Amino acid sequence: MDSQQIGEAYRQRHWRFLADLQKKAGMEFVVGRREGSHIWNVENSRRLLDCGNSGGVHSLGHCNPEIRQLIAESLETLDAGMWVMPTEEALAFQDTVNRADSPIPDCRTVLTLSASDAMDATIMWSFRVTGRKKVLAFKHGYHGHSGFAALATGSEAEGLLSHYSLPGDYSLFFEDYGDLDAIERTIDASCAAIIMEPMNYETFEPAPDGFLEGVQALCRRHSTLLILDETRSGLGRSGRLWMSGFYDIQPDIIISGKGLGGGYYPVGALIARSDIYDLCMNSGHWGYMASLAGSPIGARIAMKVLDIVRRPELVANVHLLERDLTTLFLALSANFPDLYRPAWVRGGIAALGLQDAQFASMIQLELFRRGVLCHSTSLITPSVVKFFPCLTSTPSIVEELGGALEDCAQSFRKQERVSTS
Ligand SMILES: Cc1ncc(COP(=O)(O)O)c(C=O)c1O
Repeated sequence: MDSQQIGEAYRQRHWRFLADLQKKAGMEFVVGRREGSHIWNVENSRRLLDCGNSGGVHSLGHCNPEIRQLIAESLETLDAGMWVMPTEEALAFQDTVNRADSPIPDCRTVLTLSASDAMDATIMWSFRVTGRKKVLAFKHGYHGHSGFAALATGSEAEGLLSHYSLPGDYSLFFEDYGDLDAIERTIDASCAAIIMEPMNYETFEPAPDGFLEGVQALCRRHSTLLILDETRSGLGRSGRLWMSGFYDIQPDIIISGKGLGGGYYPVGALIARSDIYDLCMNSGHWGYMASLAGSPIGARIAMKVLDIVRRPELVANVHLLERDLTTLFLALSANFPDLYRPAWVRGGIAALGLQDAQFASMIQLELFRRGVLCHSTSLITPSVVKFFPCLTSTPSIVEELGGALEDCAQSFRKQERVSTS
């Protein structure tokens, strides 16, 4: 089938919303070949620079050869494992996380099927640890689609609570990321956990100085757990292994996923303080289980990912990306001040400011036409266009992105001139 037929079949009998979304945006694309920082359509007639990479699923580049080789070797001797029997790989994964300077000293981990799955288990754990039944989260965040995870996703745009008519009694939200007072006003003795990313989900702005430290202090004061969702920001994305490493905090639980599977395999992880782990995993017969979770193949891949993202050359590459993207965004803002303005770059988490929210949908489409898939644009203020390039990208991708952004600005200017003349 060609791209059009697949899109149409999706519309007929699969996820219509997705097909319609692409069509409405003028961004229809079905992936065929994929390699490194680029994807091609099934006709092999169009190439896109992937600066979205599904929020970090492909952080190590599409079809990473090292991961591919590891999987090929593992398939010779391993399978999904047997949950009724201990596996050495699950223990090795715990040791790897502990050796990797986790922000939670003396932590224990559980391998899960996905970040959503890890978040589900984490919320149940927070209820068990505290005996409370509410979670507090950033209103415009997203932490997964499965049952309990959905309780922490509150924006109109994501709309999980209202879409499924989920019980609202378990969720509390704060409106502005960085607003400690709002959290202080909202947190109470019913709050089992605060769940947040170390950056603003919608705008990519890193947590402002003192914010996470302040949240932690509030959590300690109210005996509430601090759960950091590092599904997107972790695994080297920020320039450090965990973005929480930039702050003076010790979360109680960290969630990982997406890129943990090396772009090939469904793996998530819940990394917890060891006393929480013991209470939740070892004080009854249930803690976490899924027949296919913690498979030895998944564990091996996750360990390899942790190994790759801690290599000095990968870390240096992320710093180089940060430097080059920062320089690029400053130059674009200086050259096209009517369209762009600086926002922020932290490692491979990059946001370019837009002078007007009306430019957002236009810029996404214009970039797509010029061969760049951006992550998304912000649905809240400030208006930004966001990029999540592969961490293995060579500096040439910054030139490629810069060319497309400049070209967009030139054509935007031309259109402005036409419409005002
Ligand atoms: C911050 C964050 N947490 C959790 C998730 C859930 O990840 P998954 O869909 O892989 O389960 C996502 C997915 O986009 C996410 O962005």
